[in-house]
This record gives sequence, structure tokens and C-alpha cells, in this order.
Amino acid sequence: MPLLSRLGAVALQILIISNVCLAYPELVDKIRARQINIGSLRSSYDYIIVGGGQSGLVIANRLSEDSTKNVLVVEYGYVDNNPSQLEPSSATSYPSRDLFNVTTVPQTGIGGKRVSIYAASVVGGGSTVNGMLFDRGAAEDYDNWAALGNPGWDFAGLLPYFKKSTTFGTPDPAIVQEYGITWEPSAYGNGPIQVTFPSWQWPTIKVQWKAWNEVGVPTMRDGENGNAYNAYWVPNNVDAQSRRSYAKNRYFDTVSSRSNLHLLTGYRVNDIQFSSAKKAESVRIQQRGTPNGGSTTTIRANQEIVLCAGWLNTPAVLQRSGIGPQDLLSRANIPVVVDLPGVGSNLQDHPATQINFQYTRDLQPNQASLYTNQTFQAWAQQQWQQFRKGPMSMLVGNALATLPLPTMLSTYQSLISRVNSQNAAQYLPSTYSAASIRGYEAQRRVLMASYASLKNGIVEIPFSGGGGTSLVHEKPLSRGTVLINPSDKWADPIVDYNTSINPIDNEIFVAMIKFYRRWMQAPSMQQLGPQEQSPGASLTTDQQLINYATQGMISSTAHSCGTSAMMPQDQGGVVSSQLLVYGVTGLSVGDISIIPLIPATHTCATVYAIAEKAADLIKARAGNNPTTSSTTSVRTTTSTTRTTTPVTTPTTTGSGGTQSKWGQCGGIGWTGPTACVSGSTCQSLNPYYSQCL
Ligand SMILES: Cc1cc2nc3c(=O)[nH]c(=O)nc-3n(C[C@H](O)[C@H](O)[C@H](O)COP(=O)(O)OP(=O)(O)OC[C@H]3O[C@@H](n4cnc5c(N)ncnc54)[C@H](O)[C@@H]3O)c2cc1C
Ligand SMILES: *[C@@H]1O[C@H](CO)[C@@H](O)[C@H](O)[C@H]1NC(C)=O
Ligand SMILES: *[C@@H]1O[C@H](CO)[C@@H](O)[C@H](O)[C@H]1NC(C)=O
Ligand SMILES: *[C@@H]1O[C@H](CO)[C@@H](O)[C@H](O)[C@H]1NC(C)=O
Repeated sequence: MPLLSRLGAVALQILIISNVCLAYPELVDKIRARQINIGSLRSSYDYIIVGGGQSGLVIANRLSEDSTKNVLVVEYGYVDNNPSQLEPSSATSYPSRDLFNVTTVPQTGIGGKRVSIYAASVVGGGSTVNGMLFDRGAAEDYDNWAALGNPGWDFAGLLPYFKKSTTFGTPDPAIVQEYGITWEPSAYGNGPIQVTFPSWQWPTIKVQWKAWNEVGVPTMRDGENGNAYNAYWVPNNVDAQSRRSYAKNRYFDTVSSRSNLHLLTGYRVNDIQFSSAKKAESVRIQQRGTPNGGSTTTIRANQEIVLCAGWLNTPAVLQRSGIGPQDLLSRANIPVVVDLPGVGSNLQDHPATQINFQYTRDLQPNQASLYTNQTFQAWAQQQWQQFRKGPMSMLVGNALATLPLPTMLSTYQSLISRVNSQNAAQYLPSTYSAASIRGYEAQRRVLMASYASLKNGIVEIPFSGGGGTSLVHEKPLSRGTVLINPSDKWADPIVDYNTSINPIDNEIFVAMIKFYRRWMQAPSMQQLGPQEQSPGASLTTDQQLINYATQGMISSTAHSCGTSAMMPQDQGGVVSSQLLVYGVTGLSVGDISIIPLIPATHTCATVYAIAEKAADLIKARAGNNPTTSSTTSVRTTTSTTRTTTPVTTPTTTGSGGTQSKWGQCGGIGWTGPTACVSGSTCQSLNPYYSQCL
């Protein structure tokens, strides 16, 4: 997640480069082993993967397990061999050399500003540059995908792939004990991506956990049961030395001995070419930096072409290939292969705004100590340099409060009925087809069930000890578009999130600000002397808070998705639940674009699961055995595991830990007396929390 502190991170990064640069010469050779130049290209491959980002490398690894199949990955970006990119500080550096340089069109809902987008362009893609916060959505987030007409894509269907892609490494027992960090070992497997907790947390977080519980937000243990809602600990995708564990070093470098796997970098896939029967036959590629319209090379695919160019470019490649909204294609002078109006619609992300409180009586040490206390600073440096432990092993924090709407807003039912009575088309981009509007209405039905649910969060508040943070909307109603520029199809696509166009999205931000203030008023929090800096206590009306929220709002927390959605075709879908593009054969999508409805989570772990599942689907239709097993038996395995696996994690749950009581006189989980002393009456502030007022 992009947070602030870019400058600090960049400075730190430079230090680290000079320290570690010569430490890993062996990495360089490994990376280059399967890289080929244009002269070594075969004229055809069994599989061509468009984009060697996060999902592309996963699928390439799995498809090349069968040594009789040749696999080519074409990646527009280059290898980033910079050792600093493995370090914890890279979690917030977002180097522009590894990103597309694109901004949105002016966002009318948030004051008309152009907003940065986050789309990686480097081998390993988003996993090479991301914040390494490694969480999953709640079970219900994925069950919603299945409810939208995608059998097999519920949580039970994805859990085997969450496991297959990860291995959990036991963290420092002292930190686990001290902070009550929890995880669920059975929710991980022995897959490539290493996942663990860093060896440091800031003491103030103990108070924060307790305060969440006091305002009716229970502590959950995330894992096999899909319990990623309320407040829970979140690990990082790092190894035991806090080094980035990601698609390139864990899915690609590890299979560098496979001669049937080729990676070509610095080439753009311009488009896909089809036979007269609309079978995807070949890709046309062009060297990066050469003039558009210049020379291209055509490479044939015998079995399948798999699009993994990400949320920004998968729809653009489809559109340039003649698959997309007919009207757009004709304006761009592209012959129509399939009029598929959903291509580039359904863009979603998690918009966010900042809030800031200062703790006037903070515990020591705290985040500021790294800058203000030289003794502490020196100790932190020494811990890092000698042991790769301590505060500098930390990334962006390890705890999230992902709040159900009923917990946050007692009038949630009225909000939901106002959403249901909206004319959906009124708030959707005017380019949306009737089918896409129907698809949105279908999404709205499952979305409103989730708005009412206590087992799914609709906002996220990350916390790690500081008084300020991002307030993130996890289930926005506004929808955007990614469309090629009709007057220059080679230019970067035009991105419009239409952030906060639906006014209900702003109401969610208001509720979030008010609930954050309530959290700051929790009894335990008072020892820290919290003082509101922004919005500022003088801003109280809803309109004032909306103005504050939209002014500072960003459209994206780098979780863009949905632009080639897995939905029925008559609901604006682009791919089926087999991930095959409608209207053609031999062409599929395996990246984040297929997400129909954005889950309440940072998206990296979910992309690994999608890509692992995609690889099994691709193998199955080619007639060879999926590496996990067929979808059906995977699901059987799942239910067995879920009922029989004992929980063997440490059962400590933090100083604020799991409590059996949330409120004062009633609510879910409450076991105490329900009467209040005379003079006060019991009032339910939300289903968990009540007070004698
Ligand atoms: C800055 C940033 C921070 C993030 N922080 C977090 C976080 O902390 N936690 C988390 O869970 N998630 C985070 N994410 C999100 C997560 O990393 C992404 O959702 C995920 O990596 C997307 O994977 P993908 O395979 O769909 O696309 P990508 O990994 O983006 O891969 C797409 C690849 O396709 C290539 N490509 C595009 N067009 C073409 C073409 N025409 N020809 C050839 N190649 C092409 C691109 O260069 C790119 O490498 C972050 C993302 C970013 C960018
Ligand atoms: C984005 O800009 C940086 C810095 O100018 C550059 O190095 C990089 O190649 C650009 N990215 C793309 C995908 O063009
Ligand atoms: C500075 O850090 C040291 C070492 O952690 C600690 O002992 C000391 O109390 C700190 N000083 C202040 C003013 O907090
Ligand atoms: C979406 O944003 C565009 C401009 O970026 C604007 O023209 C359009 O009206 C917006 N859509 C809606 C439904 O308001």
C-alpha cells in the first residue's frame, strides 16, 4: 500500500544499495539464465504469456513443469537487479523505473485532480515493487465472486491455491509472545512465497488493540476460516531475513534450469491475431523504444495465449486486438473481432484519505524515536546491521481493522436501502453498455448483503502504533474505465476511476472518520492523550467531513482490478469462470483484471491464488493433469482439511486479546449482565457493542 514517507525511504534505499550491492552476485546469473534475446526466439510455443509480472511468472512456472511444453513470457519491463528492491525499505519506495508513468483523467468527484496510478512494469510486476503487506480477503469476499456466476471461485475453491502459493515461517517467539501475534498455520502450505512477521512492533500498538476491542471491534485470527474482518494481524511476504519473497525470486529464478521456459524482456505485445474461426493464433511483439508502427515479430501459440498484462494493459491489449466495445474500436480504426463491451469497464480500487491524531503522551519508544532519539536510533542501526532485526526489519505495519458497516454505523440499514433505490446507470460511466449496467446491478445485490454482514469489512484502517493512518474504502460503489486512446492506440490507456462519483461512497468516509474519532475516545486510548490534528475537531458536519475527505483523497491504493471481469457475458463479463475470453478460442486472462468485485484486502496474495488456479484450469483443458488436482477434488480436500486440522498456533491474542465481552450491557459475544444501573439505559451502538448511557 502506498503510504507517505517516500523521501525517507528513498534516502534509506540509497544507503542500502551501497552496503549490499556486492553481496549477491549469484542472483544476477540465475535471473539471466532463462532470459533470451530476440535471436533465440522459437517461431512458435505451446503457450505464450503476455506480461511477466506477478501472475505471469506464476503461470509460466506451472505450465513449464511439463517439460514437453514450451512456454514463452513476453514482458515489456526489464529485470530489476537492484538489491535494494529486496530490502524492507523498498516497501514504500515505488521506483518509477519499474512503473508505468500514468495519471488519471481529472477526477470530478474529488475536486478535479489528476491522480497517480500504480501499475508495475518490471519482471515480477507488482510483486517486485509492492508494500509486502500479505493478507487475504474474508471468505465472503470470494464467495461473492461465485455468487456472481463463477462456480469454483468461492473461498473454498481458492483456499487450496492460497496454500499452494505460500509457506509460513515461524516468527521470532519473543515478539509473538510480547504482542500476542496470531496466525493460522493450516492456512498455509509449502509453496514458493515465504511469509512471516518481522521481529519488531511498536509498543503503542498494544493500547490500540485494546481500544479496538473497547469500541466493539473483536480481535480475529485470520486464516483458514476466512476471518479477515474486524481486527487481525497480517504478515509480510518476506523470508526470515526480512528479504522480499516475490514472483521473480520464488517462481522464476528457482526454475532457471528449465530449457522449455523462455523470458523475453523489453518487448511489448502489440496485439493478438486470430484465425478466421477466431482462434487466437499468434502475438505481434515490438521492441520497447522503437517507433510505433515500426517492425514487429510474430510468434505463434500452439495451445493458448494467456494475458497477464495487469489491470491497465490486459484490457488495452484486448482492445487493440479487436476485442472490446464496438464503438471505441471503430473510433480507433480497429477491425472488430468480438464486440465485447465489458473490456475496460468495471475498474475498481480502494480509494483512501488520511486522518491524523497526535499522541501527547505516547509510549517509548515510538515511531518518532527513530528520528528523535539518537540512542534508540543507534541501537536500531546495530540490530539491523548485525542481525537484520529490530525496527528496521519492519515494513508498513502488521495490523488491520477491517470493519463491517453495522459495527461502524448504526443507521446502516437506511444507507443500504438508499443504495438499492438508486438508478444504477446514473452513477456509472456513460460508456457502460446495458450488459455492464446489469452486471453492476448483480454486483450491487451481493455487495449490499456484504454491507449488512458482520463477517466482511467494508473499510480498512491500518494501525501500527502511530496516531495517523489511511482510511480506506474497501467496497466502493463508484466504477471506472480503462480505454485505449482512440486517436493513439499505442499511447498509455486512458484511466478514469470516477472516484466518489456515487455520493454514498462519501458517506462511508464520513462514517469512517467518526468511528476513528470514537476509537480515539476509547478508555484505554486516553493514557496516550490523543489530539486530533486533521480533519480537526472543529469540522463536525457531514458536509465538512466530505469536503475534508475528498480533498485529500487518492483514487487508488494500488489495488486496481476488474477491467476484464469474470462475469456472465450478458452482464458485461469478459472471461468465463474458465478464464477464457468470450467469443474467441485459445485466449485466456490470468491476472488481476478478472476480479469481478474488489475484495477487502491488499491484492497480492489473491493474485497468487488466482494465477495458481488459472494454471490448473489451463493444464486441465490441455488434457494434462493439474499439479494440485482437478477442481472437484481440490474442493473435497478443502472441506476435509477445514474440519480436521487442529489449530496449533500460539493461542495468545495480544494484550487486548480476544475477549468474551465487548460492550457494557449486551451485544454479540456478551456474557455479562444486561441491565444498567438506575439512571442509565442500555443502548446498542452496533451489534457487538452497547453502552449504559
Ligand atoms: C506500488 C504498488 C504497491 C502495492 N502494495 C501492495 C501491498 O502492500 N500488498 C498487496 O497485497 N498488494 C500490493 N499491491 C498490489 C499487487 O502487487 C498487485 O495487485 C499485483 O502485483 C498485480 O499482479 P498482476 O499479475 O495482475 O499484474 P502485474 O504484476 O502488474 O503484471 C503485469 C505485467 O505486464 C506487463 N505488460 C503490460 N503490458 C504489456 C504488453 N503489452 N506486453 C508485454 N508486457 C506487458 C507489465 O510491464 C507488468 O510487468 C501493490 C501494487 C503496486 C503497484
Ligand atoms: C517511467 O519513468 C521512469 C523515469 O523517467 C523511466 O525510467 C521508466 O522507464 C518509465 N516507465 C515506463 C513503463 O515507460
Ligand atoms: C531513548 O532511547 C533509549 C534506548 O531505547 C531509552 O533508554 C531512552 O529512555 C530514550 N530516551 C527518551 C527521551 O525517550
Ligand atoms: C466520470 O468522470 C468523467 C470525467 O472524468 C465525467 O465526465 C463523467 O461524468 C463521470 N461519470 C459520472 C457518472 O459522473
